[in-house]
Amino acid sequence: MPGKLDGKVALITGGARGMGATEAMLFAREGAKVIIGDVLDEQGVTVAKAIRDDGGTAVYHSLDVALQEAWKRVIKSVEEEFSALHILVNNAGINVRYQVTDMDLGDWDRILAINLTGPMLGIRECAPLIRASGGGSIINIGSLAGKMGHPTTAYAASKWGLRGLSKSAAMELVDWKIRVNTVHPGLIRTPIIDPNGILFKTMSGSTPMERAGEAEEMAAAVLFFASDESSFITGQDLAVDGGFSELTAYRSIWKSAQAAAQGQARK
Ligand SMILES: NC(=O)c1ccc[n+]([C@@H]2O[C@H](COP(=O)([O-])OP(=O)(O)OC[C@H]3O[C@@H](n4cnc5c(N)ncnc54)[C@H](O)[C@@H]3O)[C@@H](O)[C@H]2O)c1
Repeated sequence: MPGKLDGKVALITGGARGMGATEAMLFAREGAKVIIGDVLDEQGVTVAKAIRDDGGTAVYHSLDVALQEAWKRVIKSVEEEFSALHILVNNAGINVRYQVTDMDLGDWDRILAINLTGPMLGIRECAPLIRASGGGSIINIGSLAGKMGHPTTAYAASKWGLRGLSKSAAMELVDWKIRVNTVHPGLIRTPIIDPNGILFKTMSGSTPMERAGEAEEMAAAVLFFASDESSFITGQDLAVDGGFSELTAYRSIWKSAQAAAQGQARK
């Protein structure tokens, strides 16, 4: 059966673990040649090898997304090795839980450098090669922190900024036949999240589907935007969050109201 990404070359940042690694493996199974960029060299090399052992094509490149020299080096290698690029997934991201009143300036700069400047550099450095390859798709990995009010100031600011970056890049790059969309994970089970932590338990309990998502469920949505199945979609946001962002507030009010009404009826 033909793969959804046959003939495509895809670069995935933060692909050494978590949802980036899952996306890399799915993309390779769907026929893409995959370049994994990350700062976790040992894990990145292992993921690329696992893909090759499975019959796919994958290489690992050390890439700190915050550094423009690193992007230039990696894009030069991609050009030399694959002569094309069609897909960029700006997935690398970090989260440090500061609120604005206890913000450390160094951490603020670091979070914005990785989560926002990184994707900007990625788009700037990859778009010319994607254009020269006949066009393609850029997928930015946002967060619900970039769709709603959120207590982690620097992280939320970076992810809201990423949405703005995505929309303006989508507008600019439509003439280059490059689509740009943003996928916003809700709570997804990956190494960034402590499954025994109070946040995990509270948020999975508050999610309308009453569970965390799996990396495979994110990867399926990212594959949709990477593939030609989404050929008429650009500039969009999609939340993969079990209904959290759109349904949680009124659902909890509605459930409380129903419980109160039943309690009154029993009296
Ligand atoms: N897991 C969730 O519930 C969740 C929720 C919302 C958003 N997200 C977002 O999803 C994306 C993936 O997160 P994840 O959950 O898989 O986390 P993760 O920590 O497992 O993966 C993030 C990857 O990014 C890499 N990375 C960090 N700094 C980098 C840098 N400077 N250059 C290159 N790579 C770097 C890490 O080494 C790691 O491999 C992130 O952008 C994150 O903000 C995750």
